[in-house]
Amino acid sequence: MDTSLTPTSDKSTRSSRLPGFYKLSAKDRLQIVADFASIPAQELEHLQSADGLPADVALCMSENVVGRFSLPLAFATNFRVNGADYIVPMAIEEPSVVAAASFAARLLRKDDGISSIATEPIMIGQIHFPEPPPRETLEYIVREHHEELKKHLDANHPRLVAAGGGFQYARVRYLSDPDGRPIAVVHLHIDVRDAMGANAVNSMAEEAAPLFERWTGTRVGLRILSNLPMHRRVKVQGSVLLDTDTDGPNMSRDEALRIEEASRFAEVDPYRAVTANKGVMNGIDAVLLATGQDFRAVEAAAHAFASRDGRYSALARWYVEDNKLYGTMDIPLALGTVGGITAVHPIVSTTLKILGIQQAQKLSELVAAVGLAQNLAATRALASEGIQRGHMRLHARNIAMLVGATPEEVPAVVAGMLAREDIKETTARLCLELVRTSGQAH
Ligand code: MEV
Repeated sequence: MDTSLTPTSDKSTRSSRLPGFYKLSAKDRLQIVADFASIPAQELEHLQSADGLPADVALCMSENVVGRFSLPLAFATNFRVNGADYIVPMAIEEPSVVAAASFAARLLRKDDGISSIATEPIMIGQIHFPEPPPRETLEYIVREHHEELKKHLDANHPRLVAAGGGFQYARVRYLSDPDGRPIAVVHLHIDVRDAMGANAVNSMAEEAAPLFERWTGTRVGLRILSNLPMHRRVKVQGSVLLDTDTDGPNMSRDEALRIEEASRFAEVDPYRAVTANKGVMNGIDAVLLATGQDFRAVEAAAHAFASRDGRYSALARWYVEDNKLYGTMDIPLALGTVGGITAVHPIVSTTLKILGIQQAQKLSELVAAVGLAQNLAATRALASEGIQRGHMRLHARNIAMLVGATPEEVPAVVAGMLAREDIKETTARLCLELVRTSGQAH
């Protein structure tokens, strides 16, 4: 193994810039991850086992379980976020996502990396009044009973309160139902600290409902968290230096202007915006899966948030100013580093340990940074050579497997297809035959 790749174990100076990481064997990559995270390699070995999730644990996680379902677990390199380096776990089947994230992270780290800042972890619990009292009455009740409500709810969640969280305040909203009849909603704003928060919020909403029924003398309908965490957001930004002589991939001013142009297209056209946001979510979801998050909740929120101005738009924006390309994104992210499957799924416990992240806010900051980088990589490729060439090179491995190549035969079959500049099944078959008869396909 190339020892120049060995990262220093000092967290303040260790670098995720790991040239040639992609060329190593999976075992050597794992050793580097272990060194980077200062974790003995033996503790990470289970990441390589087909049995990453033990059958008895899987049985307890869901219903009607018959087996387990695996995805590739990879690490993206080059990430520098808020002054610290990360190699980022990503669980994803789509070729080129991890390579693209690493590439964009490398561009972004040249100008001191990505900065990302999360708000306090405030979630919303909804209490629904289908036949509401007058607005002034409900507002008065919420004001007058604030202390009582807080005392009641916090008393039921002492661990959350001890961690610095708990009920914050309530707000009243009035809406019209589809027939124009009024409905009201009380939003409970709850600081859930390092949890995703669904359990705490749902419990508090159910605990608050009887109090509201007593205070208002009206019936409560639903009591459930909102998966649109408008107050639990991350603002992330990064920049790429243009036309520099520094080593590694550079970006020309022309390239940057085409990225700006593509970004403006995605800003105004929902058809393009959905695709651009899908690219953002390629990166985000891959980290969410690898770290055991509720990716459905994050997806639902991200797309609703993308429509917040009444028209679906791009989550990220890119623009050129002076000699830099700037990217920004604002996104709601409800993530947890405690609760859920974080301590139950052995792979998730390990990926969180590798990241060295204990706080949900920090995890959100990193996740948003990956989303922004992913969007940069996709937009850069689309605005220049297109994505298919790079994608097909990586997809060639899947085609080789599809025609029956064993893992040992795959590299030679792929090399044969690349040499012929023809990445399709018939060529893969021909190359496999050549590999089996003569040892190579080109
Ligand atoms: C493909 O998975 C994602 C892209 O379509 C994103 C984009 O168009 O920006 C490449």
